[in-house]
Amino acid sequence: MSKEIKMGVFGCSRGLNYAGLFSHEDAIEMVAFCDKNESRLANATSTFPGVPGFASFDEFMAYGKEHGMNAVFLANYFHEHAPFAIRVMEAGMAALSECLPASTLKQCCELVRAKERLGGKYMFCENYPYMTGILELARLCHEGTLGTVMYLEGEYNHHDGPEALYARSQGKYHWRNWEPRCFYLSHSLAPLMMMVDGSPRYVSAQAAVSQVQKDKFPFRAITDGMAQMLCKFDNGSVARFSGCNGISSGYSAYRAFGDKGSAEWGRHTERRIRLHLSDWNNPEGTPELQFYDPTDSVCKFDPRVAQGLSAGHGGSDYIVVQNIIAYLRDGVEPYFDVYKAAAIAATACLSLKSSMNNGEMFKVPDFHSEEEMKEVENDDLTPFYDDEGHGGTYKPSLEYTPERFAQVGVYNKG
Ligand SMILES: NC(=O)c1ccc[n+]([C@@H]2O[C@H](COP(=O)([O-])OP(=O)(O)OC[C@H]3O[C@@H](n4cnc5c(N)ncnc54)[C@H](O)[C@@H]3O)[C@@H](O)[C@H]2O)c1
Repeated sequence: MSKEIKMGVFGCSRGLNYAGLFSHEDAIEMVAFCDKNESRLANATSTFPGVPGFASFDEFMAYGKEHGMNAVFLANYFHEHAPFAIRVMEAGMAALSECLPASTLKQCCELVRAKERLGGKYMFCENYPYMTGILELARLCHEGTLGTVMYLEGEYNHHDGPEALYARSQGKYHWRNWEPRCFYLSHSLAPLMMMVDGSPRYVSAQAAVSQVQKDKFPFRAITDGMAQMLCKFDNGSVARFSGCNGISSGYSAYRAFGDKGSAEWGRHTERRIRLHLSDWNNPEGTPELQFYDPTDSVCKFDPRVAQGLSAGHGGSDYIVVQNIIAYLRDGVEPYFDVYKAAAIAATACLSLKSSMNNGEMFKVPDFHSEEEMKEVENDDLTPFYDDEGHGGTYKPSLEYTPERFAQVGVYNKG
């Protein structure tokens, strides 16, 4: 079978997980790697002998152009995806972007306009919506089992200890050291969007400072331990979701509430679905409470799931790869297109503004509307810096102080 998709991977930490999955696909040929980190690049090229590696993005793209590269998987720094995605589309290649798609409202507009102007291919490769439990919640929502779904919850917890986090965040200006909790929201928000086919329209956020973050994570400028958002979606449903919360809970959790029933996955359910259907509002004999493993149901619904159950993040990375192939080879438009990607990124940017302003409500632009984009096109507030310490325009935390900033400099030698 011919390998229609000729893939480059930009960023060889997370990117290497995907390279492993790509290498098993008949439709995909790995063309080149790019990473300025010497050891990560060496690791990539030794794991995939024959696939060359480049420290410079320009050289990677030039080599790719010469060798028929037609897609780039972006797993570079969290806050720098949009400018590189635009450069990839300008080179006539498909941009496949991991989280986050953009880190300012200005970048959101630039990304959408570039996609429209160039008519190229863009896919946001958020993986969490494709975990089995979430696919099952989505099925229950779409098939009407829960009735009208009015309220949703998404909670993503990731409580790394200081050593583990420091190992992943080296360098004073590494994005993980400056990232307010609300910014890493795609794992909690995107699944909810897919469950009800809705997009955030208004957002309000709150965050709280953690003493443990202050005391045990001196290499980080930020001290918030959690952030929680409340959103009105464009289809009328209400969603409450977290950022990447530093909370030790042992699970992430998702819930959907309709007027006929509710379903949840992850919270005290041992990875089973808890489905509750009201007795007076459903056909006679409907069990009121059910607990079940979602795997069988989801595999019947989408047979691709069965193939990838052992892949990363509960099999969801595998489904992302299948969606990439469906898009680039078979022309199936991705669910998370550039408009949804921009809405997710804008919700992150506005959540920070809101949490710094006692939960003030902000309107999330509809990125289909040039008029609405005009309202935010110059907004480049960001808590993130580049490697040299340029670019940050926003105080990074609720308890930002110059002393904390200086301390971050002392603890990070990179
Ligand atoms: N979806 C998931 O489950 C998941 C899991 C982990 C990471 N991620 C995402 O993957 C991305 C990367 O995160 P990470 O954990 O791999 O750590 P990271 O951000 O430290 O790694 C990024 C890599 O890209 C390289 N890079 C960045 N800019 C470059 C440039 N201009 N030229 C050459 N190389 C460059 C860096 O050297 C680094 O090795 C982030 O967006 C993160 O959110 C997603």
